[in-house]
Amino acid sequence: MNAKYEKFLELVIYQVYPRSFQDSNNDGIGDIPGLIQRLDYLCELGVNALWLCPCYKSPNHDNGYDISDYRDIMDEFGTMDDIRTLIREMHARDMKLIMDLVPNHTSDEHRWFIESRKSKDNPYSDYYYWFDEPLNDWQSMFGGSAWEYDKTRGQYYLHSYTVQQPDLNWDNPAVVKEMQDVVDFWVDLGVDGFRCDVIDQISKDFENGRNCFGPNLHKYIHALFGREKTEHLFTVGECWAEDIEEIRLHIAEDRGELSTLFQFEHLDVGRGKDKFTRMPGSLAEVRDVLVKWQTLTQENDLLYSLFTDNHDNSPFISRVADDRGLRYEAATCLAAMFYLLRGVPFLYQGQEFGITASSYEDISSFDDIESINAYRAYLDEGLTKEEALARINFGGRDNARRPMPWDNTENGGFSGGKPWIPLSSRVHEINLENDRKSEKSVFRFYQALLALRRENPAFLRGKFTNLSKETDTYFMYERTLGSDSFTVICNFENDSVISGDGVSGTLVLSNYADAVEGSRAFRPYEIAVYRKN
Ligand code: NOJ
Repeated sequence: MNAKYEKFLELVIYQVYPRSFQDSNNDGIGDIPGLIQRLDYLCELGVNALWLCPCYKSPNHDNGYDISDYRDIMDEFGTMDDIRTLIREMHARDMKLIMDLVPNHTSDEHRWFIESRKSKDNPYSDYYYWFDEPLNDWQSMFGGSAWEYDKTRGQYYLHSYTVQQPDLNWDNPAVVKEMQDVVDFWVDLGVDGFRCDVIDQISKDFENGRNCFGPNLHKYIHALFGREKTEHLFTVGECWAEDIEEIRLHIAEDRGELSTLFQFEHLDVGRGKDKFTRMPGSLAEVRDVLVKWQTLTQENDLLYSLFTDNHDNSPFISRVADDRGLRYEAATCLAAMFYLLRGVPFLYQGQEFGITASSYEDISSFDDIESINAYRAYLDEGLTKEEALARINFGGRDNARRPMPWDNTENGGFSGGKPWIPLSSRVHEINLENDRKSEKSVFRFYQALLALRRENPAFLRGKFTNLSKETDTYFMYERTLGSDSFTVICNFENDSVISGDGVSGTLVLSNYADAVEGSRAFRPYEIAVYRKN
């Protein structure tokens, strides 16, 4: 790995869902000035970059992923001046800003689509996919056909997500140029990188019936990020590549495409193919997936992304671990398990104090289009209201989108007004204030963990070696750089006796106050990091 990508290993990225992070003007919606107020808190935690979910102009059919103007900010979130201040304030703190780029679709209220739907021969008519008949039986990700008839134009257009999110036609060179200009606009403002929404869908494989991984995908990504103006950026793709060779083609350093991508396989542990269905899953399965991708990305000298949570999934802890009695132990175990591995750490807001899924008795407590459509579909299938709600409570994206519970004041300190969506049902139990007052603070553990990582290059550039077997009920791995070597042990079950070389050395991090050095039985979710002497 050369200097450019090695530098990215120093990033610790915190994902902000702006609508739910901090409201500064009491309209119940988080905003950019609110985020600015919390920058010092984020520095104190130990992160040095933010991925900001979409904050552009949008009618919010899919909470900002339906953009009507890529060069302006949503009114509720603030102004372009607020964004300039954010960038200035972040850079003054040595923090990088990674914006969300949504290149696959626009809002149907975007000027391009408003023009495009008017006729078959105007400058924008080929900006989207239009056909006289639905071309195939593709389904929208949120349910129903992915083709919608438009009366004005008398044709069908493709929308992989909501009806209000028409897919852009990247095979039209004008669209490529438009999106390059959007990227350049933000680069000129000073942003340091992009998280690229469903980037694998910008080239469709019509021939093989897939709305992604089309024949021009590499060419289009290269057109965005392989240019002199953009090749310094940190870019992470939401890209569902599942094969290491395909991944290599996207993120190898000499490709001029992406710096890294999210590999999602571990998120499937604990649930069925449908994200709303619970399935038995274990941390040992998560470990095996991590070992597989650590090994493959290391062998291929690729940057891996380390994450458990994001705005599209219910908190990982609630699916794969104990989010009640042993919540502190489980949250800290997951943190050590992931963030001392080789790659770029991404934390999702609230994770740093052990936030969990929550539970509601009526669908009116939900806002997300995906959940609401799924709920209706379950009722149509014959599930009772309770059965359908149980699924939404388990897997719904709103689990990750409830307002940040900062403290015990009204509305969790998120807003002085009525929040746009109800607070977490566990807000009085799980909030930052309670966590920081507690002897067992997830936040303080994260601080110590991130400091350990930051201060020891072995965690950044060191070799990863797995020391556990598939039959073990723990994950033990080593990170070694030159003569510096650390062993990380994450225990899953009670009383795993762990002995041998791995547990020798000085204990440098633990989540049990009375942990001792040497071979011994480990308790549930106990983690220990030893430095070899
Ligand atoms: C993936 C985003 O993460 C998700 O929130 C969104 O709904 C879809 N892409 C469509 O943009």
